Amino acid sequence: MDGSESRQLQENTVTTVEESEAVIGPTGRPLPVFPEPVRPAVHGNARVISMVNQKGGVGKTTTTINLGASLAEYGYKVLLVDFDPQGSLSVGLGLNPHQMEKTVYNLLMQRDVAVDEVVVPSGVDGMDLLPSNIDLSAAEVQLVHEVAREQTLQRVLAPALEKYDVILVDCQPSLGLLTVNALTASDSVIVPLECEYFALRGVALLKTTIDKVRERLNPKLEIDGVLGTMFDGRTLHGREVMERLVEAWGDTVFHTVIRRTVKFSDSTVAGEPITSYASDSTGADSYRQLAREVLARWQRDV
Ligand SMILES: Nc1ncnc2c1ncn2[C@@H]1O[C@H](COP(=O)(O)OP(=O)(O)OP(=O)(O)O)[C@@H](O)[C@H]1O
Ligand SMILES: [Mg+2]
Repeated sequence: MDGSESRQLQENTVTTVEESEAVIGPTGRPLPVFPEPVRPAVHGNARVISMVNQKGGVGKTTTTINLGASLAEYGYKVLLVDFDPQGSLSVGLGLNPHQMEKTVYNLLMQRDVAVDEVVVPSGVDGMDLLPSNIDLSAAEVQLVHEVAREQTLQRVLAPALEKYDVILVDCQPSLGLLTVNALTASDSVIVPLECEYFALRGVALLKTTIDKVRERLNPKLEIDGVLGTMFDGRTLHGREVMERLVEAWGDTVFHTVIRRTVKFSDSTVAGEPITSYASDSTGADSYRQLAREVLARWQRDV
């Protein structure tokens, strides 16, 4: 890439509003404008991203569904991987855990099961799903005895890379072998953090785990960003937590934050993403903005 092309790419990627009036975003920093993404003309060479936080209930599954659906709206071909034996991602997209023919468990443990046999439509155009249910909890135990046990997910996902642009892996709230498999299979990580007082507890351990996987198993692994979820900007508490988040993580914190709203649990009950359940809602728009911000960060890596 020559100098002018790289300048062009930067200009396309993020325009800070410094030149015009600086709008201060919810994270307390000037809010950049994230341009409308160009729809990909060809598909494949997927980027794999894990949604990780060993703390439960911070918005990993909600972010997987809605970031995936937003990227699909922008024309990206998306595969979601339910990598949690709770199966919340699958249920959140309307699947019945007892009626799944084949799941990620079969894909991991049976050599004769291919990814195509497990993929199901998600109900959103351009977005597919590898579903899971409680069977997956056995994989964590059985994988311990496998050769190259940390690389199992990477191996079974490899044939899917050419069909999708983005693969999002929804991890369970633990840093066990399944999550290490997800990190080993990934190009990058998104860490959702609930904007409440104890949000930063345990984050040091998460960072150490990511560093260890990078050193020992997957040198390309990077952190795309930390996402503040369930934010309430009306309370001093909410704003203070956000300040501490930015102090601790700096520019790794996404400018986009997801506010607290009951629409997310309503859309889970309806079995669809908020982008279709309440397409005009702030929640839907926030996830669309996150998709644009994430795409801008990826382009900087090109
Ligand atoms: N921004 C939000 N505002 C309000 N409720 C939310 C928001 N995001 C998620 N929720 C709700 O909070 C609960 C936990 O969210 P979610 O399942 O996405 O978290 P998780 O990190 O995947 O949890 P687990 O660790 O158990 O897998 C769900 O009931 C979800 O509907
Ligand atoms: Mg979850």
